[in-house]
Amino acid sequence: MTALRLYVNIDHVATVRQARRTDEPDPVHAATLCEAAGADGITAHLREDRRHINDDDILRLAEVCTTVLNIELATDPGIVDLVCDLRPHQATLVPERREEITTEGGLDLSRKDGRLVQTIDRLRMAGCRVSLFIDPTEDAVTRAAQLGVPAIELHTGRWAHTWRGEEGPQALEQLVAAARAAREAGLAVHAGHGLTYLNVQPVATIAEIEELNIGHSIVSRSIFTGITEATATMARLMREARSGTKPPDRKGDHE
Ligand code: PXP
Repeated sequence: MTALRLYVNIDHVATVRQARRTDEPDPVHAATLCEAAGADGITAHLREDRRHINDDDILRLAEVCTTVLNIELATDPGIVDLVCDLRPHQATLVPERREEITTEGGLDLSRKDGRLVQTIDRLRMAGCRVSLFIDPTEDAVTRAAQLGVPAIELHTGRWAHTWRGEEGPQALEQLVAAARAAREAGLAVHAGHGLTYLNVQPVATIAEIEELNIGHSIVSRSIFTGITEATATMARLMREARSGTKPPDRKGDHE
């Protein structure tokens, strides 16, 4: 059975800081606590509008992280330059629109995008493992494989929105099918977006998935429990689901 890694996305620690444009809470401090609590990696999204994480955060994360750093970015040339200079372990390419509240869909790979191809090449040459954030469709998986990247991250938004309702099983099936197709195409499979303590376990049982990127739910819980407990509990739920020591909890009746 493939091990399942938890990468904690610390963007929303910075969101709270930016609400006052001050220097607390510090996302880099949060990252060190997440690592000590069992996170396998730290994820941060440097957006073109710098609405949460800023350049200084990224520079400090690259210096301080003792696990691995996964930087999410779009194809903005200035940000690509910065990431190529820093050479984090992983760079996940995402679509970005200024007006969106969060990343709303996967990359559109249906049309030839020269800038995307060029960005993948630049990141690869800099030594980053490149992952593409895509919708969980076989078409997107096939197109990602054609771009020669080693990994993809499946957008779990549909599951996150529907898991309690009738559409939930279908959304999960879609993730299972896309994860299988990706493995068959030789891609490492990551997943994330909207995963919470209540809906993570069914996704964690998908054997082909090896990495989950989770942010908002962990940072939200940390307000009440601290980020150490919030990280450790998410890691435990993932471990239990993956090892089958506890049946996936679909009703959300734990803690
Ligand atoms: N993966 C990607 C590519 C994302 O853009 C995000 C959101 O920044 C996440 C995972 C984490 O989503 P959430 O904050 O909903 O857990």
